[in-house]
Amino acid sequence: MTTKSWTADDIPSQQGKTILITGANSGLGLEASKVLSSKGAHVIMTARNLKSGNEAISLIKKKNANAKLDLMHLDLSDFTSIHQFSQEFHNKYRQLDVLINNAGVMFPAKRELTKQNFEIQFGTNHLGHFLLTGLLLDVLKSTPNSRIAIQSSGQHKAKMGKPDIYFDDLNFDKGYNKYVAYTQKQAGKPIICV
Ligand SMILES: NC(=O)c1ccc[n+]([C@@H]2O[C@H](COP(=O)([O-])OP(=O)(O)OC[C@H]3O[C@@H](n4cnc5c(N)ncnc54)[C@H](OP(=O)(O)O)[C@@H]3O)[C@@H](O)[C@H]2O)c1
Repeated sequence: MTTKSWTADDIPSQQGKTILITGANSGLGLEASKVLSSKGAHVIMTARNLKSGNEAISLIKKKNANAKLDLMHLDLSDFTSIHQFSQEFHNKYRQLDVLINNAGVMFPAKRELTKQNFEIQFGTNHLGHFLLTGLLLDVLKSTPNSRIAIQSSGQHKAKMGKPDIYFDDLNFDKGYNKYVAYTQKQAGKPIICV
């Protein structure tokens, strides 16, 4: 398959697949939900704001009334929410073909912290998805040919001569630059192979 002239039309049927997309209520997550459901996948969309998630579902259903979509609440900036999500997911589903770790905070106006006091971009984009992936590994492993897709950023190349991950100051307590914080987290977004 060539990537030069690739379009969504090149995506084969996704019939029979269950695909979970984080941050599916807007942007790339919404677009991926739209396209993958149009290919027959059962898409589980997550949103931290269910109203926004339901609006996203209505948008997709306007064009594709048969789209198989579920919506689940997930706030990746709170480990408690991630654990609750995992519990609910395990109660409802036995199969996960593709996990798309898409949600992300980008360049917040000021330094913010997650519920467990991590810098918001590191805590949400990186640690939140790391925990989520770990909690869903059992279902991924028991689903033949499952995949994990990580939505990262070209920003991972903009290291500015600094380390990939600021292990000595993970939360930028010593001085905050939202771009550097975003960049290091993108470089280090967790990739787990199953
Ligand atoms: N846009 C770009 O140019 C670009 C370039 C490279 C990579 N990316 C990456 O692509 C991904 C999607 O970005 P996008 O452009 O589609 O941006 P977007 O439209 O702002 O989407 C980001 C999604 O992440 C969700 N999110 C934010 N914080 C969350 C949290 N605590 N818990 C759960 N979900 C949360 C947002 O929910 P709310 O609607 O509730 O805020 C939204 O659904 C991100 O990981 C981003 O880093 C984007």
